[in-house]
Amino acid sequence: MPRLVSHPEEVKIVTRRFGQGAAQIERYIALGGYTAAQKCLSEGPEWIIEEMKASNLRGRGGAGFPTGLKWSFVPKQSAKPKYVLVNGDESEPGTCKDHLIFLHDPHSVIEGTIIAGLAIGAKTGFIYLRGEYRYLLEIMEKAVAEAYAKGFLGKNIFGTQTEFQIITQSGAGAYEVGEESALMESVEGKRGVPRIKPPFPAVVGLYGGPTVINNAETIATVPHVISMGAAAYAAVGSQRNGGTRLFGLSGHVERPGVYELPMGYNLKKMIYDVGGGVRGGRGLKAVVPGGCSTPCLLPDEIDIGMDFDQVGKAGSMLGSGGVVVIDDQTCIVEFALRTISFYQHESCGWCIPCREGTDWLKKSLTRFHAGYGEKKDIDQIQYLAENMMGRTFCPLGDAAAMPILGFVKKFRQEFEDHLHGKPCPFAKHVDLAVV
Ligand SMILES: Cc1cc2nc3c(=O)[nH]c(=O)nc-3n(C[C@H](O)[C@H](O)[C@H](O)COP(=O)(O)O)c2cc1C
Ligand code: SF4
Repeated sequence: MPRLVSHPEEVKIVTRRFGQGAAQIERYIALGGYTAAQKCLSEGPEWIIEEMKASNLRGRGGAGFPTGLKWSFVPKQSAKPKYVLVNGDESEPGTCKDHLIFLHDPHSVIEGTIIAGLAIGAKTGFIYLRGEYRYLLEIMEKAVAEAYAKGFLGKNIFGTQTEFQIITQSGAGAYEVGEESALMESVEGKRGVPRIKPPFPAVVGLYGGPTVINNAETIATVPHVISMGAAAYAAVGSQRNGGTRLFGLSGHVERPGVYELPMGYNLKKMIYDVGGGVRGGRGLKAVVPGGCSTPCLLPDEIDIGMDFDQVGKAGSMLGSGGVVVIDDQTCIVEFALRTISFYQHESCGWCIPCREGTDWLKKSLTRFHAGYGEKKDIDQIQYLAENMMGRTFCPLGDAAAMPILGFVKKFRQEFEDHLHGKPCPFAKHVDLAVV
């Protein structure tokens, strides 16, 4: 479980109310809450969207799409109702930040949802939490009830003629419903499989109406952008990557936890200064920079700024901000096996390359790790993963294949060592090889 941690280099914007009782509406208001929504009510939709664009806020769900631009794609006129959908499915291994927002600052999600609704002209917002977050759903529901009681939600929000309603919902516990189109299916009460795109949700989304879908951290950031001002928010981060990010630092690190750091913060510094270095003073073998679907980086590749552009340049992705540190006593083949086991379990089964590919990869890696592999299996594992890339119905197939390809390419020698040191050269450290 991520802990409430702190480090002097943190810049607390999204987390500034954490640990201060802000789940209670009175406390949230005392700490400056709900003023951003009121400001947006008086400024109007175009102003909100321009502010969001100027802030350089990019989606925290994984792809890093600019939030203001996404909102601007929603048609102004629509025969069908428009919606805001907050993605709190948070299921990517290594990612553990949204739940802290729901726990410590649920009203920031509500306020951000109201602002997104005002920006696009929606009257209804959905806040969706992963099935395993049922205990957080109770907190969210209580916060929503408080906002209704205060008149911040309902037919006449903040005493105006504007209506905005919020509905909370939980999933049944499937990683795939974090994918935005499968998420809409799940909200509508159907099986969580993706929809064909285009049309994109901004045009045809929930119940066929234009829909903005944003990650919970993105939405919780919105009121802060409005309160600070777009320029001040943008200035905190790096070029084209505004503000801060909640990085979930986990794995073999001395001080794991969720840290709020400026976009572009150096990864090496994050591990060694903020996280206190590799656990037990061991050596570093690799780092997964943005949740388990992102290709790993080697120790000589981590002197980079953590933003969408710089991590992309280094050959990986910033993804969901889940940084997993892997020490030198970890078996990479086992790590690859654990990774693919997750995707094999979570594949929704809708399309063959993902359904079969993840299953084959899991079987191949299981056999290989157990000492029954042959040299040709290494190429076969790579071939299987390469053949999933770009051939699946939704990005889960790529998400499963990419890390495996990274491990095979960067740690080929370690795969070959498994052929000599059967079953696993790291077997004596197996208790330490915990992801
Ligand atoms: C398999 C899969 C799982 C995903 N899981 C999540 C998730 O748990 N939370 C999330 O916000 N986005 C997730 N995404 C990304 C969403 O599809 C979408 O891009 C995101 O919610 C948009 O919000 P943002 O622009 O604020 O990042 C997932 C994508 C894929 C392909
Ligand atoms: S890639 Fe295909 S099988 Fe895999 S989760 Fe997406 S739709 Fe389902």
